[in-house]
Amino acid sequence: MTEHTVQVTVNGEHRTVTVEARRLLADMLRHDLGNHGTHLGCEHGICGACTVLVDGQPVRSCLTLAVQADGRTVDTVEGLGTPEQLSPLQEAFSANHGLQCGFCTPGFLMLATGYLRETNNPSDDEITDLVASNLCRCTGYQGIIDAVRDAARRQP
Ligand code: FES
Ligand code: FES
Repeated sequence: MTEHTVQVTVNGEHRTVTVEARRLLADMLRHDLGNHGTHLGCEHGICGACTVLVDGQPVRSCLTLAVQADGRTVDTVEGLGTPEQLSPLQEAFSANHGLQCGFCTPGFLMLATGYLRETNNPSDDEITDLVASNLCRCTGYQGIIDAVRDAARRQP
């Protein structure tokens, strides 16, 4: 079995990982690097629970090979904030009831983080389109939409 060395910066920390060619980015993050906040739901690109940022862009880590992250920057939910100091987006999810069981939440947080880095003052329709790419089985979507809108308003 051929193995490959992947050099990747995860949440600001340089990491070197040896993986098989078929290893998924999601599995590398969870099992090789211990970032269990990246969740796996459908494992075939539908639910968005596994969304992380690669070079700042939201991607499905269940559809991305670990070797594709070589030389790149990956941001996961662990890099957003801490229990003591949530990121503004995490605070907005809490304040607007954007989560219940929390399974989908890391994916929504990373999706919205990437989006809000590039978008100021999004409309409700734009936020609705954005969150439609990920699945939540608990909240309805209104709390998530409210949270993204709230976080957008708090942006400097
Ligand atoms: S686990 Fe990747 S999209 Fe569902
Ligand atoms: S909060 Fe439970 S699936 Fe979204």
